[in-house]
Parts: sequence; structure tokens; C-alpha cells
Amino acid sequence: MSGRLAVYPGTFDPITNGHLSIVNRALKIFDKLIIAILNNPQKEPLFSIEERIAMIKDVLKSKSNIEVDVFDGLLVDYVIEKKSNVVLRGIRALSDFEYEFQMALMNRKLNRDVQSIFLMTDYKWFYISSTIIKEAASFNGDISGLVPPSVCRKLKEKFGY
Ligand code: PNS
Repeated sequence: MSGRLAVYPGTFDPITNGHLSIVNRALKIFDKLIIAILNNPQKEPLFSIEERIAMIKDVLKSKSNIEVDVFDGLLVDYVIEKKSNVVLRGIRALSDFEYEFQMALMNRKLNRDVQSIFLMTDYKWFYISSTIIKEAASFNGDISGLVPPSVCRKLKEKFGY
């Protein structure tokens, strides 16, 4: 593929409006984005890989320049395999910084050809994460407006509401 390509890795369990804000911002900079879901069964995700892929594809179906994929092993190896050299991550509050800084430095140590780029999420989504949304949804809390409507429905289904 030609043009600027970035890999946006994560767990996406499930995708939130915060992730979508990063995707939309990134598409103003990059020509194509690969949303790469880490296949990490140790994390005991709420949604299976297949469910997460389906949700992301559904939410982003209007965008032709997005690929949704699954990876395991080292992120930098995956990025190179995809012929990219950019890892894209979203930053919310300062609390994200330490973890992201550590990951970026480790990735740089592993492969100096791969650059980490950070975009800030929209201030509206500063406090949300997949984890906090799952927790609220598990107690039937109102999470509408924080995730796309289709994801909201899937969360309700999962928790039996
Ligand atoms: O959404 P998350 O859980 O914050 O995403 C974390 C992710 C998937 C980006 C990170 O765990 C990762 O890149 N894992 C792949 C293994 C790897 O390359 N580890 C070494 C660099 S820290």
C-alpha cells in the first residue's frame, strides 16, 4: 500500500468513543490505519476476538481506509510485517503517560525503525476506558453516549439487561 500507514494497537474490549476520537484524528494525518487487536487470552476479555472485530468493523464501516486485524507476539514485529513504521496510541490523562512512555521506550529498544506517535483523545472522553465502561455496564449503569449505540447494545446483551 502507498501513503502513510499507522498501526493502532490495543485490546479494544470493547471499542469506545475515546478510541474513535483517536481514529478520526489519525485519519487526518495518515492515509491508512490498521486497528490491531492483541490476541492475549491471559487478559480474559469480555468480548471474543471475533466479537471485537465485528464491533469495530460495524462502527467504522463507512471508512474505507481502515483495516481491522489481530496480532500476537511483539508489536514492533507486527508493525514491520505490515510495512508500517508507526505505532499510534491515544493519551488521556497524565496517568496514561507512565505506561505509554515505558511501552514506547521498550518498543524503541526492540526496533529503532518503529516510531511511537501519541494523539490526545477529545476532552469529552478523557475519563473513559473500556474497563470503566465494562464496570458501569455490568451494574446496568447508563453508558450510552460513551460508546457507539451498537456497542452499547452488545454490552447490555453480555450483561443480560
Ligand atoms: O489497549 P491496551 O491493553 O493498553 O494495549 C496494549 C498493547 C496491545 C498495545 C500492548 O500490550 C502490546 O503492544 N502488546 C504486544 C506485546 C509487545 O510487543 N510487548 C512489548 C512492548 S511493551
